[in-house]
Amino acid sequence: MSTLLPIIPPDDLLREKEGLSPAAQRAEEEKNRMRRYFEKPEADAHLAPVAAQEPVCLYLETTNRCNLLCTTCPRTYEDLEPEADMPWELFTSLIDQYSNIARVVLHGIGEPMLVKDIAQRVKYLKDRNIYVLFNTNGTLLTEANGRALIEAGLDELRVSLDAAESEVFQMVRGKDFFDKIVANVRNFTRLQRDMDAPRPRVSLWLTGLRETVDQLPNFVRLAYSIGVTEVYLQRLVFFDVPMDEHSLARAESALFEHTTEREEALICEAESVARELGVMFSASGAVDPGESIKMQRSDSPWSLCRRPWSLMYITANGRVLPCCIAPFSMKGYDSFTLGDATQGSLREIWNGAEYQRFREGLLTSAPPPACANCGLRWSL
Ligand SMILES: C[S@@+](CC[C@H](N)C(=O)[O-])C[C@H]1O[C@@H](n2cnc3c(N)ncnc32)[C@H](O)[C@@H]1O
Ligand code: SF4
Ligand code: SF4
Repeated sequence: MSTLLPIIPPDDLLREKEGLSPAAQRAEEEKNRMRRYFEKPEADAHLAPVAAQEPVCLYLETTNRCNLLCTTCPRTYEDLEPEADMPWELFTSLIDQYSNIARVVLHGIGEPMLVKDIAQRVKYLKDRNIYVLFNTNGTLLTEANGRALIEAGLDELRVSLDAAESEVFQMVRGKDFFDKIVANVRNFTRLQRDMDAPRPRVSLWLTGLRETVDQLPNFVRLAYSIGVTEVYLQRLVFFDVPMDEHSLARAESALFEHTTEREEALICEAESVARELGVMFSASGAVDPGESIKMQRSDSPWSLCRRPWSLMYITANGRVLPCCIAPFSMKGYDSFTLGDATQGSLREIWNGAEYQRFREGLLTSAPPPACANCGLRWSL
Protein backbone atom coordinates (compact mmCIF):
# COMPACT_ATOMS: atom_id res chain seq x y z
CA MET A 1 0.00 0.00 0.00
CA SER A 2 1.44 3.37 -0.98
CA THR A 3 1.94 5.98 1.74
CA LEU A 4 1.08 8.87 -0.54
CA LEU A 5 -1.62 10.30 1.65
CA PRO A 6 -1.38 11.83 4.10
CA ILE A 7 2.06 12.21 5.56
CA ILE A 8 1.37 14.16 8.72
CA PRO A 9 4.04 16.79 9.29
CA PRO A 10 6.11 16.25 12.42
CA ASP A 11 5.12 18.44 15.37
CA ASP A 12 8.23 20.57 15.14
CA LEU A 13 7.29 21.58 11.60
CA LEU A 14 3.99 22.88 12.87
CA ARG A 15 5.41 24.75 15.85
CA GLU A 16 4.92 28.46 15.66
CA LYS A 17 7.58 30.24 13.66
CA GLU A 18 8.58 33.30 15.58
CA GLY A 19 7.72 36.64 14.09
CA LEU A 20 5.44 35.51 11.26
CA SER A 21 2.23 37.40 10.74
CA PRO A 22 -0.90 35.27 11.36
CA ALA A 23 -1.46 34.93 7.60
CA ALA A 24 2.14 33.90 7.02
CA GLN A 25 1.85 31.47 9.94
CA ARG A 26 -1.16 29.79 8.31
CA ALA A 27 0.77 29.65 5.04
CA GLU A 28 3.70 27.99 6.79
CA GLU A 29 1.38 25.31 8.13
CA GLU A 30 -0.12 24.72 4.70
CA LYS A 31 3.39 24.49 3.25
CA ASN A 32 4.22 21.78 5.73
CA ARG A 33 1.08 19.90 4.82
CA MET A 34 2.16 20.17 1.17
CA ARG A 35 5.42 18.43 1.93
CA ARG A 36 3.60 15.15 1.51
CA TYR A 37 3.74 15.59 -2.27
CA PHE A 38 7.50 15.69 -2.10
CA GLU A 39 8.28 13.21 0.66
CA LYS A 40 10.44 10.25 -0.20
CA PRO A 41 8.49 7.03 -0.19
CA GLU A 42 8.79 5.36 3.18
CA ALA A 43 10.75 2.13 3.31
CA ASP A 44 7.67 -0.07 3.10
CA ALA A 45 5.93 2.02 0.44
CA HIS A 46 4.98 -0.05 -2.54
CA LEU A 47 5.25 1.94 -5.74
CA ALA A 48 4.20 -0.20 -8.67
CA PRO A 49 3.25 0.42 -12.28
CA VAL A 50 -0.40 0.08 -11.27
CA ALA A 51 -1.28 2.88 -8.85
CA ALA A 52 -2.99 1.56 -5.73
CA GLN A 53 -4.74 4.87 -5.12
CA GLU A 54 -6.65 7.38 -7.19
CA PRO A 55 -5.03 10.76 -7.85
CA VAL A 56 -5.42 13.33 -5.08
CA CYS A 57 -4.78 16.30 -7.33
CA LEU A 58 -5.74 17.37 -10.84
CA TYR A 59 -3.96 20.05 -12.85
CA LEU A 60 -6.48 21.37 -15.34
CA GLU A 61 -5.06 23.63 -18.01
CA THR A 62 -8.05 25.94 -18.29
CA THR A 63 -6.37 27.64 -21.23
CA ASN A 64 -3.14 27.47 -23.18
CA ARG A 65 -3.53 31.07 -24.40
CA CYS A 66 -1.28 33.76 -22.95
CA ASN A 67 -0.66 37.50 -23.11
CA LEU A 68 3.00 37.49 -22.04
CA LEU A 69 6.22 36.26 -23.65
CA CYS A 70 8.26 35.02 -20.72
CA THR A 71 11.80 34.09 -21.63
CA THR A 72 11.75 31.10 -19.26
CA CYS A 73 8.53 29.58 -20.63
CA PRO A 74 8.34 26.99 -23.43
CA ARG A 75 5.10 28.58 -24.62
CA THR A 76 7.04 31.59 -25.90
CA TYR A 77 9.15 29.48 -28.26
CA GLU A 78 7.11 26.39 -29.06
CA ASP A 79 3.64 25.63 -30.45
CA LEU A 80 2.65 22.92 -28.03
CA GLU A 81 -1.01 22.39 -28.96
CA PRO A 82 -3.74 24.25 -30.87
CA GLU A 83 -4.81 27.34 -28.90
CA ALA A 84 -7.84 26.53 -26.77
CA ASP A 85 -9.69 27.09 -23.54
CA MET A 86 -10.76 23.85 -21.92
CA PRO A 87 -14.47 23.47 -22.79
CA TRP A 88 -16.78 23.76 -19.76
CA GLU A 89 -18.23 20.30 -20.49
CA LEU A 90 -14.79 18.70 -20.46
CA PHE A 91 -13.85 20.62 -17.30
CA THR A 92 -16.91 19.46 -15.35
CA SER A 93 -16.74 15.91 -16.67
CA LEU A 94 -13.13 15.59 -15.47
CA ILE A 95 -14.02 16.79 -11.97
CA ASP A 96 -17.09 14.61 -11.80
CA GLN A 97 -15.05 11.48 -12.51
CA TYR A 98 -13.17 11.75 -9.21
CA SER A 99 -15.48 12.77 -6.42
CA ASN A 100 -12.72 12.49 -3.77
CA ILE A 101 -10.19 14.76 -5.42
CA ALA A 102 -8.59 17.00 -2.74
CA ARG A 103 -6.95 19.72 -4.79
CA VAL A 104 -7.27 21.24 -8.25
CA VAL A 105 -4.75 23.55 -9.88
CA LEU A 106 -6.27 25.66 -12.64
CA HIS A 107 -3.22 26.63 -14.63
CA GLY A 108 -1.09 24.76 -17.11
CA ILE A 109 0.94 26.48 -19.76
CA GLY A 110 -1.12 29.58 -20.36
CA GLU A 111 -2.72 32.40 -18.39
CA PRO A 112 -5.84 31.20 -16.53
CA MET A 113 -7.25 34.68 -15.99
CA LEU A 114 -7.79 34.94 -19.76
CA VAL A 115 -10.60 32.40 -19.30
CA LYS A 116 -13.84 34.38 -19.12
CA ASP A 117 -15.58 32.07 -16.66
CA ILE A 118 -12.60 31.27 -14.44
CA ALA A 119 -14.49 32.35 -11.30
CA GLN A 120 -17.40 30.09 -12.23
CA ARG A 121 -14.95 27.20 -12.52
CA VAL A 122 -13.55 27.99 -9.10
CA LYS A 123 -17.10 28.02 -7.72
CA TYR A 124 -17.84 24.65 -9.30
CA LEU A 125 -14.88 23.18 -7.43
CA LYS A 126 -15.57 24.95 -4.15
CA ASP A 127 -19.15 23.63 -4.21
CA ARG A 128 -17.47 20.21 -4.13
CA ASN A 129 -15.20 21.10 -1.23
CA ILE A 130 -12.00 21.00 -3.28
CA TYR A 131 -8.92 23.12 -2.49
CA VAL A 132 -8.45 25.39 -5.53
CA LEU A 133 -5.47 27.42 -6.60
CA PHE A 134 -3.73 28.75 -9.65
CA ASN A 135 -0.71 30.75 -10.72
CA THR A 136 -1.36 33.90 -12.66
CA ASN A 137 0.75 36.54 -14.31
CA GLY A 138 -1.43 39.13 -12.57
CA THR A 139 -2.05 41.31 -15.62
CA LEU A 140 -5.82 40.76 -15.53
CA LEU A 141 -6.39 40.97 -11.79
CA THR A 142 -8.81 43.88 -12.02
CA GLU A 143 -11.15 44.79 -9.19
CA ALA A 144 -14.08 43.00 -10.86
CA ASN A 145 -12.08 39.84 -11.57
CA GLY A 146 -10.59 39.88 -8.09
CA ARG A 147 -13.97 40.28 -6.41
CA ALA A 148 -15.40 37.42 -8.46
CA LEU A 149 -12.54 35.14 -7.39
CA ILE A 150 -12.97 36.05 -3.73
CA GLU A 151 -16.71 35.45 -3.93
CA ALA A 152 -16.17 32.13 -5.70
CA GLY A 153 -14.03 31.00 -2.76
CA LEU A 154 -10.60 30.64 -4.39
CA ASP A 155 -8.13 29.25 -1.81
CA GLU A 156 -4.82 30.40 -3.22
CA LEU A 157 -3.65 32.90 -5.81
CA ARG A 158 0.01 32.77 -6.80
CA VAL A 159 1.25 35.78 -8.71
CA SER A 160 4.35 35.14 -10.81
CA LEU A 161 6.17 38.46 -10.77
CA ASP A 162 9.82 37.39 -11.13
CA ALA A 163 11.29 40.81 -10.39
CA ALA A 164 11.29 43.76 -8.01
CA GLU A 165 11.64 46.37 -10.74
CA SER A 166 10.25 47.07 -14.16
CA GLU A 167 13.34 46.63 -16.30
CA VAL A 168 14.21 43.24 -14.87
CA PHE A 169 10.58 42.20 -15.13
CA GLN A 170 10.65 42.96 -18.83
CA MET A 171 13.80 40.91 -19.34
CA VAL A 172 12.16 37.84 -17.79
CA ARG A 173 8.47 38.27 -18.61
CA GLY A 174 8.86 39.76 -22.09
CA LYS A 175 6.47 42.74 -21.77
CA ASP A 176 6.13 46.00 -19.88
CA PHE A 177 3.47 45.17 -17.29
CA PHE A 178 5.34 45.46 -13.98
CA ASP A 179 3.67 48.59 -12.61
CA LYS A 180 0.23 47.39 -13.62
CA ILE A 181 0.65 44.02 -11.91
CA VAL A 182 2.02 45.58 -8.73
CA ALA A 183 -0.95 47.97 -8.64
CA ASN A 184 -3.35 45.09 -9.32
CA VAL A 185 -1.98 43.04 -6.43
CA ARG A 186 -1.94 46.01 -4.05
CA ASN A 187 -5.58 46.77 -4.91
CA PHE A 188 -6.50 43.12 -4.55
CA THR A 189 -5.09 42.75 -1.01
CA ARG A 190 -6.81 46.02 -0.10
CA LEU A 191 -10.08 44.66 -1.46
CA GLN A 192 -9.59 41.53 0.64
CA ARG A 193 -9.15 43.65 3.75
CA ASP A 194 -12.26 45.71 2.86
CA MET A 195 -14.26 42.54 2.33
CA ASP A 196 -12.71 40.91 5.42
CA ALA A 197 -11.82 37.97 3.16
CA PRO A 198 -8.80 35.91 4.34
CA ARG A 199 -9.00 33.76 1.20
CA PRO A 200 -7.39 33.44 -1.25
CA ARG A 201 -3.91 33.31 0.25
CA VAL A 202 -1.90 35.55 -2.05
CA SER A 203 1.77 34.92 -2.78
CA LEU A 204 4.46 36.38 -5.04
CA TRP A 205 6.73 34.05 -7.00
CA LEU A 206 10.18 34.56 -8.43
CA THR A 207 11.78 31.94 -10.65
CA GLY A 208 15.35 31.53 -9.48
CA LEU A 209 17.74 32.86 -12.12
CA ARG A 210 21.33 33.91 -11.72
CA GLU A 211 20.35 37.05 -13.61
CA THR A 212 17.69 38.00 -11.04
CA VAL A 213 18.74 36.56 -7.68
CA ASP A 214 19.85 40.03 -6.59
CA GLN A 215 16.20 41.10 -6.81
CA LEU A 216 15.23 38.87 -3.90
CA PRO A 217 15.65 41.16 -0.86
CA ASN A 218 13.68 43.94 -2.56
CA PHE A 219 11.19 41.39 -3.86
CA VAL A 220 10.37 40.47 -0.26
CA ARG A 221 10.13 44.17 0.68
CA LEU A 222 7.86 44.80 -2.31
CA ALA A 223 5.59 41.90 -1.29
CA TYR A 224 5.28 43.32 2.21
CA SER A 225 4.57 46.84 0.92
CA ILE A 226 1.64 45.63 -1.18
CA GLY A 227 0.10 43.45 1.52
CA VAL A 228 1.44 40.04 0.47
CA THR A 229 2.71 37.80 3.28
CA GLU A 230 4.13 34.89 1.27
CA VAL A 231 7.05 34.86 -1.16
CA TYR A 232 8.37 31.84 -3.06
CA LEU A 233 11.59 31.16 -4.87
CA GLN A 234 10.67 28.84 -7.73
CA ARG A 235 13.24 26.39 -9.03
CA LEU A 236 14.06 26.98 -12.69
CA VAL A 237 13.33 24.01 -14.93
CA PHE A 238 15.29 24.08 -18.16
CA PHE A 239 16.12 22.24 -21.35
CA ASP A 240 19.52 20.76 -21.96
CA VAL A 241 19.56 22.58 -25.27
CA PRO A 242 17.85 26.00 -24.93
CA MET A 243 14.88 26.64 -27.20
CA ASP A 244 16.12 29.98 -28.38
CA GLU A 245 19.16 32.18 -27.98
CA HIS A 246 17.08 34.54 -25.80
CA SER A 247 15.60 31.82 -23.60
CA LEU A 248 16.61 31.96 -19.94
CA ALA A 249 15.51 28.35 -19.39
CA ARG A 250 19.10 27.17 -19.67
CA ALA A 251 21.65 25.55 -17.38
CA GLU A 252 23.84 28.62 -16.97
CA SER A 253 20.91 30.65 -15.61
CA ALA A 254 19.92 28.05 -13.00
CA LEU A 255 20.71 28.78 -9.37
CA PHE A 256 21.15 25.33 -7.98
CA GLU A 257 24.09 22.95 -7.99
CA HIS A 258 26.64 25.72 -8.51
CA THR A 259 25.55 28.59 -6.33
CA THR A 260 28.19 31.19 -5.62
CA GLU A 261 28.84 32.71 -2.20
CA ARG A 262 27.34 35.97 -3.39
CA GLU A 263 24.14 34.25 -4.50
CA GLU A 264 23.85 32.40 -1.20
CA ALA A 265 24.39 35.66 0.66
CA LEU A 266 21.56 37.29 -1.32
CA ILE A 267 19.22 34.47 -0.41
CA CYS A 268 20.23 34.75 3.25
CA GLU A 269 19.63 38.49 3.09
CA ALA A 270 16.16 37.91 1.64
CA GLU A 271 15.46 35.38 4.40
CA SER A 272 16.51 37.89 6.99
CA VAL A 273 14.36 40.69 5.45
CA ALA A 274 11.44 38.26 5.43
CA ARG A 275 11.95 37.44 9.11
CA GLU A 276 12.09 41.14 9.98
CA LEU A 277 8.89 41.88 8.11
CA GLY A 278 7.01 38.75 9.20
CA VAL A 279 6.75 37.48 5.62
CA MET A 280 6.96 33.76 4.89
CA PHE A 281 9.76 33.12 2.40
CA SER A 282 9.83 29.63 1.00
CA ALA A 283 10.91 27.65 -2.04
CA SER A 284 8.83 25.62 -4.44
CA GLY A 285 8.64 21.98 -3.43
CA ALA A 286 7.83 23.26 0.08
CA VAL A 287 11.42 23.58 1.20
CA ASP A 288 13.39 26.54 2.50
CA PRO A 289 15.10 28.62 -0.23
CA GLY A 290 18.63 27.95 1.02
CA GLU A 291 17.86 24.23 1.23
CA SER A 292 16.32 24.29 -2.25
CA ILE A 293 19.34 25.66 -4.06
CA LYS A 294 21.73 23.35 -2.22
CA MET A 295 19.89 20.16 -3.11
CA GLN A 296 22.29 17.97 -5.02
CA ARG A 297 21.72 15.62 -7.92
CA SER A 298 21.72 12.08 -6.59
CA ASP A 299 22.27 9.00 -8.71
CA SER A 300 18.63 8.74 -9.69
CA PRO A 301 16.77 11.83 -8.50
CA TRP A 302 13.65 10.86 -10.43
CA SER A 303 13.16 7.97 -7.99
CA LEU A 304 12.01 10.58 -5.45
CA CYS A 305 9.16 11.66 -7.69
CA ARG A 306 5.64 10.72 -6.60
CA ARG A 307 3.71 12.73 -9.15
CA PRO A 308 2.58 9.89 -11.43
CA TRP A 309 1.11 8.21 -8.34
CA SER A 310 -0.59 11.29 -6.96
CA LEU A 311 -1.75 13.63 -9.71
CA MET A 312 -2.86 13.99 -13.29
CA TYR A 313 -2.32 16.95 -15.60
CA ILE A 314 -4.83 17.51 -18.40
CA THR A 315 -4.22 20.08 -21.12
CA ALA A 316 -6.88 22.40 -22.53
CA ASN A 317 -7.30 19.94 -25.40
CA GLY A 318 -7.71 16.92 -23.12
CA ARG A 319 -4.24 15.43 -23.36
CA VAL A 320 -3.14 13.67 -20.18
CA LEU A 321 0.41 14.29 -18.94
CA PRO A 322 2.19 12.99 -15.81
CA CYS A 323 2.96 16.37 -14.26
CA CYS A 324 3.36 20.09 -14.87
CA ILE A 325 7.16 19.85 -15.04
CA ALA A 326 7.72 17.61 -18.05
CA PRO A 327 6.84 20.35 -20.60
CA PHE A 328 9.68 22.44 -19.11
CA SER A 329 12.28 19.67 -19.30
CA MET A 330 11.44 17.97 -22.61
CA LYS A 331 10.36 19.55 -25.89
CA GLY A 332 7.00 18.52 -27.35
CA TYR A 333 4.40 16.43 -25.57
CA ASP A 334 4.71 13.17 -27.50
CA SER A 335 7.17 11.34 -25.26
CA PHE A 336 5.08 11.83 -22.12
CA THR A 337 1.48 11.79 -23.38
CA LEU A 338 -0.36 9.21 -21.29
CA GLY A 339 -3.86 9.38 -22.74
CA ASP A 340 -6.68 11.46 -24.23
CA ALA A 341 -9.34 12.48 -21.73
CA THR A 342 -11.78 13.30 -24.55
CA GLN A 343 -11.67 9.64 -25.65
CA GLY A 344 -11.41 7.61 -22.45
CA SER A 345 -12.27 7.96 -18.77
CA LEU A 346 -9.63 9.19 -16.34
CA ARG A 347 -9.79 5.86 -14.46
CA GLU A 348 -9.02 3.94 -17.66
CA ILE A 349 -6.11 6.26 -18.39
CA TRP A 350 -4.79 6.34 -14.78
CA ASN A 351 -3.99 2.65 -14.82
CA GLY A 352 -3.85 2.21 -18.60
CA ALA A 353 -0.87 0.82 -20.49
CA GLU A 354 0.81 4.22 -21.07
CA TYR A 355 0.64 5.27 -17.43
CA GLN A 356 1.89 1.87 -16.31
CA ARG A 357 4.80 2.04 -18.73
CA PHE A 358 5.67 5.53 -17.55
CA ARG A 359 5.60 4.56 -13.86
CA GLU A 360 7.56 1.43 -14.59
CA GLY A 361 10.27 3.55 -16.27
CA LEU A 362 10.40 5.93 -13.34
CA LEU A 363 11.19 2.98 -11.05
CA THR A 364 14.24 2.00 -13.10
CA SER A 365 17.67 3.47 -13.76
CA ALA A 366 16.50 4.38 -17.30
CA PRO A 367 13.51 6.68 -16.73
CA PRO A 368 11.37 8.38 -19.41
CA PRO A 369 13.45 11.13 -21.07
CA ALA A 370 11.41 13.96 -19.50
CA CYS A 371 12.20 12.55 -16.05
CA ALA A 372 15.88 12.04 -16.75
CA ASN A 373 16.06 15.70 -17.75
CA CYS A 374 13.86 16.87 -14.91
CA GLY A 375 15.96 15.48 -12.08
CA LEU A 376 15.82 17.86 -9.18
CA ARG A 377 14.53 20.68 -11.28
CA TRP A 378 11.12 20.49 -9.68
CA SER A 379 8.67 23.16 -8.73
CA LEU A 380 5.24 23.08 -7.20
C1 LIG B 1 3.60 28.31 -17.01
S1 LIG B 1 3.03 29.44 -15.81
C2 LIG B 1 1.26 29.38 -15.99
C3 LIG B 1 0.51 30.34 -15.11
C4 LIG B 1 0.67 31.80 -15.40
N1 LIG B 1 0.70 32.10 -16.76
C5 LIG B 1 1.88 32.37 -14.68
O1 LIG B 1 2.81 32.82 -15.35
O2 LIG B 1 1.86 32.35 -13.46
C6 LIG B 1 3.25 28.55 -14.29
C7 LIG B 1 4.48 28.94 -13.51
O3 LIG B 1 5.63 28.51 -14.20
C8 LIG B 1 6.63 29.47 -13.97
N2 LIG B 1 7.70 29.25 -14.92
C9 LIG B 1 7.86 29.75 -16.16
N3 LIG B 1 8.98 29.27 -16.73
C10 LIG B 1 9.56 28.44 -15.81
C11 LIG B 1 10.72 27.63 -15.81
N4 LIG B 1 11.52 27.55 -16.86
N5 LIG B 1 11.00 26.93 -14.68
C12 LIG B 1 10.18 26.96 -13.62
N6 LIG B 1 9.05 27.68 -13.58
C13 LIG B 1 8.74 28.42 -14.66
C14 LIG B 1 5.88 30.77 -14.08
O4 LIG B 1 6.59 31.86 -13.55
C15 LIG B 1 4.64 30.42 -13.29
O5 LIG B 1 4.83 30.67 -11.91
S1 SF4 C 1 5.05 31.78 -17.67
FE1 SF4 C 1 2.85 32.13 -17.62
S2 SF4 C 1 2.65 34.27 -18.27
FE2 SF4 C 1 4.68 33.63 -18.86
S3 SF4 C 1 4.48 32.98 -21.02
FE3 SF4 C 1 4.32 31.16 -19.69
S4 SF4 C 1 2.15 30.91 -19.39
FE4 SF4 C 1 2.46 33.00 -20.11
S1 SF4 D 1 9.13 14.93 -15.40
FE1 SF4 D 1 9.95 15.13 -13.29
S2 SF4 D 1 8.16 15.72 -12.04
FE2 SF4 D 1 7.39 14.88 -13.97
S3 SF4 D 1 7.01 12.73 -13.60
FE3 SF4 D 1 9.08 12.89 -14.43
S4 SF4 D 1 10.42 13.05 -12.63
FE4 SF4 D 1 8.33 13.48 -11.94
